[in-house]
Amino acid sequence: MMSEKALQSKRIVLCVTGSIAAYKAVSLLRTLIEEGAEVSVVMTSSATQFVAPLTFEVLSGRPVLQRLFADVHPMPHLKVTEDADLILVAPATANCLAKCALGLADDLLGTLFVAARCPIVMAPAMDGDMWDYPALAAHVRTLRERGVVVLEPEDGPLASGLTGKGRLPAEHMILEAVRARLARQRDWAGQRVLVSAGPTREPIDAVRFITNASSGKMGYAMAEAAAQRGAEVVLVSGPTALPPPPNVTCVPVLTAEEMHQELESRFAWSTVLVMTAAVGDFRPRHPSSAKTKKHEWTGEPLELERTPDILQSLSQKRTHHVLVGFAAESEDLLANGRKKLHQKNLDLLVVNRITGPQSAFGNETNEVILLPRDGTPIQVERLPKRILADRILDTIREQCIGPPASRSQQPHEGIRRIQ
Ligand SMILES: Cc1cc2nc3c(=O)[nH]c(=O)nc-3n(C[C@H](O)[C@H](O)[C@H](O)COP(=O)(O)O)c2cc1C
Repeated sequence: MMSEKALQSKRIVLCVTGSIAAYKAVSLLRTLIEEGAEVSVVMTSSATQFVAPLTFEVLSGRPVLQRLFADVHPMPHLKVTEDADLILVAPATANCLAKCALGLADDLLGTLFVAARCPIVMAPAMDGDMWDYPALAAHVRTLRERGVVVLEPEDGPLASGLTGKGRLPAEHMILEAVRARLARQRDWAGQRVLVSAGPTREPIDAVRFITNASSGKMGYAMAEAAAQRGAEVVLVSGPTALPPPPNVTCVPVLTAEEMHQELESRFAWSTVLVMTAAVGDFRPRHPSSAKTKKHEWTGEPLELERTPDILQSLSQKRTHHVLVGFAAESEDLLANGRKKLHQKNLDLLVVNRITGPQSAFGNETNEVILLPRDGTPIQVERLPKRILADRILDTIREQCIGPPASRSQQPHEGIRRIQ
């Protein structure tokens, strides 16, 4: 028997915009079709400067829609998305991201974007300076706040000859995001998720402190993913440089003690606790409230004491909760992970490797082992943290929570139909 393909019968609208990476959309189209998708292609006028529409027409077996007026349908912007399962914009130019964020409807792509009610994934590609432009960052934020999945472009050599962040994400990353978005509508609705993220800061004196290299990216990605999938989310975060994820209540903290208090006060409310924070294990026993002057230091060692073990303490108070821990390990990942899983009575442990150039700390991507209660490890390949977050939520759903309430009970993320 033939196995079902991942995108079997999924109706995907592939929008190609005027980036030098437009040629990569040809291969993407082929792969989507190989995976079983039915693909309609929309091209902006600029995109046709890079690849001839005929290429997409032949490969998709359908006419390529280019113009708002007088193409194949009288109202192509409504027709093309009327029964679409997903819109994929790849590559997405800076212009197109801005247009879609602002809701400008002055061409076919802009108009169908405003009219569409299905999930949308965008894969940006542009020069590094364009990606770094502040207005663009604001547009990307706006789109994400509205539930659009905007992938991070990749680092590497760019068409300009420079190296930087701006390359179209690799095809398998785009496909993973498409599959992931299709698989998840609002399957976390009804869950109340408490996430901890970032490092803690343990003061030595008024200006000095002990901290660690956690960037908070994994926790913020978990919070964002859970919120996008319908959960109510509270994020208790140590100091990070990250903007708060959309539709998430953020509670900033500094020390392990503060983090403990904030998590404890919300634990009864939550149904799922996700502890990604790199909570400091030690703190100075006698922090000074003033700044210690250089000449005042007599050379005596800094006396440290243990901080509260937050996960252990909350795990002892668990009732209905699902508890998910993260472990940063440099060696014996599985053995150390299993020990922590049982010691802390967790439902799932996500084990990160923190040594080497691909360390979990600060990187955009992460490679982890998931350890559920039965101890059977699930190796997850290296993925961007936001996509990995969805994989982890899938595993929590499957292994610890069970299937969501019936579809009819979930808020509708349907498709607008026209007669
Ligand atoms: C050779 C060339 C390559 C370009 N590559 C990109 C690109 O990779 N990303 C981008 O955002 N814009 C790129 N542009 C600029 C866009 O084509 C331009 O902003 C255009 O208005 C985009 O229109 P569209 O978003 O409607 O497709 C490039 C322009 C030229 C001439």
